[in-house]
Amino acid sequence: MENQPTENILEAALCREGLINPDDSAVIFYDLDFIEQRVETLKNLFPPGTLHAVAVKANPLPAVLTKINLLGVGAETASLPELVIALKSGFEAVKIVFDSPVKTTAEIEFALKAGVHLNADSLMEIERIADIWEQTESKSTIGLRINPQAGTGKIAITSVAGTYSKFGVPLLEFRDEIIKTYIENDFLTAIHVHVGSQGCELPLLIRGIKIVYELALEINQQLEKAGKQHRIRIFDIGGGLPVAYKDDDFPPAMEEYVGALKLEMPQLFDGTFSLITEFGRWIHANAGFTVSRIEYLKTAGTNSQKPATHISDQINTLMIHVGADLLIRECYLPNQWSHKISVADPSGKIKSGKPEKKYTIAGPLCFQGDIIARDILLPETGEGDFIIIHDTGAYTLSMWSRYNSRQMPKVIGYSRKNDHFEILRKRETPEDLWEFWG
Ligand SMILES: Cc1ncc(COP(=O)(O)O)c(C=O)c1O
Repeated sequence: MENQPTENILEAALCREGLINPDDSAVIFYDLDFIEQRVETLKNLFPPGTLHAVAVKANPLPAVLTKINLLGVGAETASLPELVIALKSGFEAVKIVFDSPVKTTAEIEFALKAGVHLNADSLMEIERIADIWEQTESKSTIGLRINPQAGTGKIAITSVAGTYSKFGVPLLEFRDEIIKTYIENDFLTAIHVHVGSQGCELPLLIRGIKIVYELALEINQQLEKAGKQHRIRIFDIGGGLPVAYKDDDFPPAMEEYVGALKLEMPQLFDGTFSLITEFGRWIHANAGFTVSRIEYLKTAGTNSQKPATHISDQINTLMIHVGADLLIRECYLPNQWSHKISVADPSGKIKSGKPEKKYTIAGPLCFQGDIIARDILLPETGEGDFIIIHDTGAYTLSMWSRYNSRQMPKVIGYSRKNDHFEILRKRETPEDLWEFWG
């Protein structure tokens, strides 16, 4: 289990003068040491020239991206604004990967002029790129995203290598067209695959990449046979390594993943290709946790059809300050996405032990589905305590919903090794929301 201990951090933060104010009804924390360690692990395990393009969609905070850039890795971007955020956060263009399934002509032009690595999502996009390439001086490298059609993982909405996917060119149907496209376009020197994100087990991730690896080797043979000078030199394996959210989640370690890649695809490690990785969740998820004050405890209502006759039949609902605005997947698909939850007292000390009671945790938004956990056992708690939602470092803030115009909470980074706290993003004000909608 990789959950980061959060004890002491909340307590220590509450003791720092001016760091957390009474109007900070919720705060998001990021463990900066953890992110650094994860990046270092990647750098140690993959060949030295590998471009580790950390997925901006997992955590787009410029304050975090700036630090990631200083660690010497890159950024994977999936929209023009993400690309601009990466550039403004200091990433050199050659360390940026631009993926998006709906790039406009203007966006392709922008990317080629900037000189970022671009992965085309379709054969139609390759045609557009070919036209622009003719008229543009560009240092970009270009790949094509292949859907290996290797199968889907446990979570349908994040599995993208099934027989149907909205991403990439499906290999089983378009094999000949793909090879022809590589032969006809000498700017096409890279290949891209991303099998899925969370819920994809190791064998599926490896199978998907291997299908594209074999295709890349075959394309290079065909290029040679056709007398072409260009080859596929860059292999982008995507991201997708799952992480632990619960005590009984045991995802594969990065070491295991890299070991399997080496065993199954030795030419990814012998210099035939230079590699790109696009990990997001594995870098960020376990680095973050979210704290909300419990504003009210409502003891009311029941799970049965009949009204409660006794207080013990009633549901204890903890009303807190984040819900589906931060945890959209957890509210809409609670059987697939959920987090470990703890309680802390008003000083930030984690509560443990008995007596435990069943609680439902509801967010602040105006719809009934805004519930992040139902009937979970927690140490006895109520108004003034804190709820801690663990492992919220990836795909949470980046999916923030503007419904009800709630203020995005303050984001605090911390480093245990440097005994350091810093505000990575200030809490939004009502005026910020006025400007957002205006
Ligand atoms: C193309 C691409 N690359 C990388 C990622 C990052 O995946 P993960 O955060 O699971 O590593 C995603 C996630 O959606 C993606 O679509």
